[in-house]
Amino acid sequence: MAQRTLIIIKPDGVQRGLVGEILGRFERRGLKLVGLKLMSVDRSLAEVHYAVHKERPFFADLITFITAAPVVCAVIEGPEAIAVVRNLVGATRFTEAAPGSIRGDFALDLTMNLIHASDAPETAEQEVSLFFAPDEIVDYAREGDRWVTG
Ligand code: CMP
Repeated sequence: MAQRTLIIIKPDGVQRGLVGEILGRFERRGLKLVGLKLMSVDRSLAEVHYAVHKERPFFADLITFITAAPVVCAVIEGPEAIAVVRNLVGATRFTEAAPGSIRGDFALDLTMNLIHASDAPETAEQEVSLFFAPDEIVDYAREGDRWVTG
């Protein structure tokens, strides 16, 4: 089933010049970018995005980190995109992230783990609409997709 999911390349990914490397992995897999932007996350947006972690001891550090420098947000579309993207991203903890995953190849810190990806259909829908207005998402066909998804 075709799904859409949100990814956020966190400030460490942008500062380390890994935006192209990370987006390229999604493109090479065959996934389609349908929304893309560089932006700063302000405190109120960060608090809504991370509301589920509000009571956790690391919440304040998380907000400070995500608001510290620009991020790159993308909406990614493809068959089972939520699970496929989570697998490409790798486990939250760098010690558990498989080699070949984004975190397994580039991350050595729990907070600076390079990228966020939605974890379920409900959160994907909420997160896409939190970061993208409807007219910022572009519906288009790619000629080569019949050789990827049939
Ligand atoms: P992410 O899954 O993108 O969103 C929540 C983030 O909290 C997570 O990535 C980690 O970067 C960060 N974090 C910091 N400390 C912890 C912790 N102890 N457990 C889980 N996540 C943590």
